[in-house]
Amino acid sequence: MPGLPFKKAVVATICLATFAYSAPAGTLVASAPSSTPTAPYASENPNGMLWTEQEDITPEPIRGTLGATILGPQNVPMDLQNADLLAPPSTDSGTVGNAKWPFSLSHNRLQTGGWARQQNVQVMPLATEMAGVNMRLEAGALRELHWHKTAEWAYVLKGSMNIATIDFNGESFYDTVNPGDLWYFPPGVPHVLQATADLAEGAEFLLVFDDGDFSEDSTFSLTDWLSHVPKDVLARNFQTTVDAFDHIPGKELYIFPSTPLPKASSPQGNVALPYTFKASQMPVTPLSGGTVKIVDSTIFNVSTTIAMAEVTVEPGAMRELHWHPTQDEWSYFLEGTGRVTLFAANANARTFNFQPGDVGYIPASYGHYVENTGNATLRFLEIFKSDRFQDVSLQQWLALTPPELVKAHLQLDDDTIAHLNATKAVVQGPA
Ligand SMILES: *[C@@H]1O[C@H](CO)[C@@H](O)[C@H](O)[C@H]1NC(C)=O
Ligand SMILES: *[C@@H]1O[C@H](CO)[C@@H](O)[C@H](O)[C@H]1NC(C)=O
Ligand SMILES: *[C@@H]1O[C@H](CO)[C@@H](O)[C@H](O)[C@H]1NC(C)=O
Repeated sequence: MPGLPFKKAVVATICLATFAYSAPAGTLVASAPSSTPTAPYASENPNGMLWTEQEDITPEPIRGTLGATILGPQNVPMDLQNADLLAPPSTDSGTVGNAKWPFSLSHNRLQTGGWARQQNVQVMPLATEMAGVNMRLEAGALRELHWHKTAEWAYVLKGSMNIATIDFNGESFYDTVNPGDLWYFPPGVPHVLQATADLAEGAEFLLVFDDGDFSEDSTFSLTDWLSHVPKDVLARNFQTTVDAFDHIPGKELYIFPSTPLPKASSPQGNVALPYTFKASQMPVTPLSGGTVKIVDSTIFNVSTTIAMAEVTVEPGAMRELHWHPTQDEWSYFLEGTGRVTLFAANANARTFNFQPGDVGYIPASYGHYVENTGNATLRFLEIFKSDRFQDVSLQQWLALTPPELVKAHLQLDDDTIAHLNATKAVVQGPA
């Protein structure tokens, strides 16, 4: 009896060994340690994207021998844009929440002087840590004096913006920002935004808030507040008469046309650390397949809850396989098209395709890559609710792991292992 477990183990080892040696030639390395495959090899299917949105076809949910045509109604433009949802790679499996939100699907709030549309956890349940707003102001139009419970981080898309604030200490800040520049207001700090006339059309920008529940419709606005305070209280507060408030608006203005504002100043002086960062003037870091520009609180000191990487990926190149240790990623696609697979552990993986104006969301620690799927430069923002940008590169990790250990897991040949590069590629050039 005591010998039985031992015998079982021997039999198991022999079975595994038999299985291993019957595997296709070239997949075993003579110097490999004694470990043997305990699972069948992964499929040889390269699982590429089957069509791009430019193609003049009616896409079908067919990949190899799997799937069948659509007989019912079909939204062809949507299916052309989302090849990997309609005909997923066979590596996709299990359940991963929706990680794509095109601002095109957001309700748009139209005002005299501009518009605003938002993405938050209500439309994208995966996106619990951050929310976004895309806002447009005509030249001279104001996003009125307001504040909110969350911090506000912004990236200028087009045109230029004047921003102004008075902080808790009565210190002032006023600046003008251009495309690619940033601003950041800590929670509760009141501010006003105005598009300049540098561009005849005005300006457009992206806002990111460090709370997935944020709603642009529940910010604290000056006109909304004063229209909901009894007028005798207003009179007492400002030491004047009730009729001084005869012409205050009866409801929130939110966005409205105006004329260029004079620069405000405060006897308390200016804030110590600027609320803007001229990221457009910062040089990019060149990479083998593109560029990166990282702006976090190490250089934009006030931005303690939002960090950003602006990434470009050339055609045929790829933001390498990586993850962010503790921070969810809220991404925004500026130009070009991309493909991302989220690996959510426990055999869960799902692939999404992105177009300009789309929001992506990748929870902390989910393995992912961003592939350029078009012929033009792909440019996107990776945004984190964090004071620091951090990522872990799969390749760097494996390059710094003893080769025997890598071989024991992946049965890679010596050349492939010798080729592993311990310097993070960030964006890997074409192979
Ligand atoms: C911002 O923070 C860095 C690192 O903590 C520091 O070296 C730098 O002087 C700070 N910049 C300003 C304007 O205070
Ligand atoms: C890229 O260009 C090639 C050659 O002009 C064309 O065949 C291909 O469809 C293009 N791909 C995309 C994604 O536009
Ligand atoms: C390793 O990667 C770095 C960064 O992409 C690159 O500059 C370098 O040439 C690579 N080394 C080799 C040997 O390929």
